[in-house]
Amino acid sequence: MALICVASPKGGVGKTSLVAALSDALRRAGRRVIAIDCDPQNALRLHLGLPLSDTAGFLARIAERPDWRTALRATPAGPELLPHGETDLRGALAAAGALAADPELLAAPLRAMLADPGVLVIADTPPGASGALQVLAPQAAMLLVVLLADAASTALLPDVESGRFLGGGTLGSLMGPRLRIVLNQVDRNSRLSLAAAEGLAGHLGPRLVGAVARDEAMAEALACQRPVGLHAPSSAVARDVADLAAAILRDLPPPAPPVPSPVASPLFPWMRT
Ligand SMILES: Nc1ncnc2c1ncn2[C@@H]1O[C@H](COP(=O)(O)OP(=O)(O)OP(=O)(O)O)[C@@H](O)[C@H]1O
Ligand SMILES: [Mg+2]
Repeated sequence: MALICVASPKGGVGKTSLVAALSDALRRAGRRVIAIDCDPQNALRLHLGLPLSDTAGFLARIAERPDWRTALRATPAGPELLPHGETDLRGALAAAGALAADPELLAAPLRAMLADPGVLVIADTPPGASGALQVLAPQAAMLLVVLLADAASTALLPDVESGRFLGGGTLGSLMGPRLRIVLNQVDRNSRLSLAAAEGLAGHLGPRLVGAVARDEAMAEALACQRPVGLHAPSSAVARDVADLAAAILRDLPPPAPPVPSPVASPLFPWMRT
């Protein structure tokens, strides 16, 4: 149905925590959710309850053209997961090289997942530009950028708005209308955090799709290997994530109706089916 690609020019802002929490919240909203881990840190599996000793995955082995269906896992938390898989520096560089040489290694499995109209795919990416982000972003219904309500994130806003952090000007301008921002770790007790959040909200308008409180329940949830909505359903952060999931579902474009062949575009006739 749709791909939500979670990214940020900045590391450690809570991308992986939010992907885990959102995949749980979107599943509670009645969607079949597939989470994809594109980060060699291979951490999303831990948030969703797979054991530390379980090192299998997809992107770590992408040079070997693995079958994504075989790599797809049911998780104790509920959402299905395509784990990244364990790798070392050499393996990560080999996988990045294979993906750069043949983006279809990831693009084709993604198309196959999205062909199921009931599926919502949510992808976690490494900080900054990455090969996976370059492949995923053009297929994303929403590019969800995670920022913090602080000075460093405020300073990165021009990079986000111009799409420069995607690593390419054209891709950035293509993604502009699908760019949404979520502020994470907003601290209501901090004047600085509130001032940054209010300033960013005024500047971003409807592109700001949600704000999530700083709340230790998020870190505790990982320590218990459960998404925060399962671990602490009445916490401030779990409520914010549920609101964020609802806002994302309202914001996603409706699935495009299939184009009947008699009115196929006169352009690119070789692309008609
Ligand atoms: N809303 C929150 N409240 C409190 N702590 C949070 C919140 N969100 C994330 N954290 C904490 O911030 C830290 C970084 O989170 P996480 O690993 O999800 O970030 P990331 O953006 O995926 O990092 P990386 O760039 O390394 O992939 C973790 O310790 C996590 O528990
Ligand atoms: Mg991460």
